[in-house]
Amino acid sequence: NNSVRILAIESSCDDTSASVCIDGRIASNYVANQKVHEQYGGVVPELASRAHMQNIVPVVDVALKQAGISLQEIDAIAFTQSPGLIGSLLVGAQFAKSLALALSKPLIAVHHMQAHVLANLIEENRPSFPFLCLTVSGGHTQIVLARSPLELEVIGETIDDAAGEAFDKSAKLLGLPYPGGPLVDKNAQLGNPLAFKFAEPQIPELNFSFSGLKTSVLYFLQAKQKEDEKFIENNLNDLCASVQHTIIQILLKKLKKAVAQTGVKNVCIAGGVSANSGLRNALQEAGKKYGWKTFIPPFQYCTDNAGMIAITAYYKYKAGKFSELDVSPTARAEW
Ligand code: KG4
Ligand code: ZN
Repeated sequence: NNSVRILAIESSCDDTSASVCIDGRIASNYVANQKVHEQYGGVVPELASRAHMQNIVPVVDVALKQAGISLQEIDAIAFTQSPGLIGSLLVGAQFAKSLALALSKPLIAVHHMQAHVLANLIEENRPSFPFLCLTVSGGHTQIVLARSPLELEVIGETIDDAAGEAFDKSAKLLGLPYPGGPLVDKNAQLGNPLAFKFAEPQIPELNFSFSGLKTSVLYFLQAKQKEDEKFIENNLNDLCASVQHTIIQILLKKLKKAVAQTGVKNVCIAGGVSANSGLRNALQEAGKKYGWKTFIPPFQYCTDNAGMIAITAYYKYKAGKFSELDVSPTARAEW
C-alpha cells in the first residue's frame, strides 16, 4: 500500500521523545522527561546526554507500541539535527542513523525550530498558508513567515535572551524553582498584571530583547527589599502577573508589527512558552480585536516533542528531502 509511516526521534535538550506519523496523522507521541536536572536549577548537558542514552530504546519502543506498528513497517526514520545541546543531539542522530542503516530505510534530518512552527499543522484545525508563527521557547524567540510547509522565513528574533529564559530567570529572582515559567503562570492568575511596571525594551524591526527585563526586575526587587524584607513573599502573585504581563506586551507588540508588515492575518504560536495561559488569552484577544485567525497547538505539541519532528519529516518525505547517512547534528544551525 502507499501509506507513509515515519518514526521520528527528538533529543535536542532534556526530553527524550519518539513519535510515529502515518500519512500525516500523529499515531503516537511519547515523551520521557528527565528529572535529574531539577536539583541543579537548569539542564546539565552531560547528564542530559546520559539520560537520553538510557531512555531512547524504551521510548522508541513505547511510541511504536502505542501506534500499533512494528519497526519493519516504518518507511523512514527522522531525527532532530539541530539546534540543541550537541551531546543530546548526537544520541538521537546516532540512533536514527543506525536504524536507517539496519532497516535500509531513508533518513530525514529535521530542524527543531522549523518543527516547532509546523506543530501547528498536526491538528485538523490548522492554519492555511501563508501564516505567521511566534515561536517562544526556553532557547528561542522568533517570528516566522510560513509560505508553505518547507518555505519558512525568520523575520524577527531575539538579540539576547529567549522569552522562556525571561520567565525562568525572573522566576529565579522571585525564589521559584526551575523551570519557573509554569509557576509564574500559575501565580500570575491570582495577581494584578498592572501592579508593578517594568521597562519594555526599544528594539528595532521585528526583533526582541529580554536581558534588560531580568536586570530591571532585579534592581526593583533589591530596592523594595531594603524597605520590606518580606516584599516578594507578600507580593508574589502581583509580581508574577506583572512580569508575565511585560513579557506578553513585548511579544504581542512585535506580532502586531509583523502582521502590519506582511499583511498575513493567520497567526500561530508555538514552543514551550505558548503553554502560558496569559499569552494564549492575549493572542485570542488580539485575534478578536484585529481580525486575525489565531491558532495554538495542543499543549503536548507546544513543548519539545517528536510529534512535531514527525510532521515536518512527513512534508520532507513527500518533497523527497532525505539525508545521507554521514549527516551530523550541529548545536547551532542556519535555517
Ligand atoms: O519549547 P520548550 O519546552 O523547550 C525548549 O526548546 O526550550 O520550552 C521550555 C520553556 C521554559 O523556559 C519554560 O519555563 C517555558 O517554556 N514554559 C512556560 C510555561 N510552560 C513552559 N513559560 C511560561 N508559562 C508557562 N505556562
Ligand atoms: Zn524546543
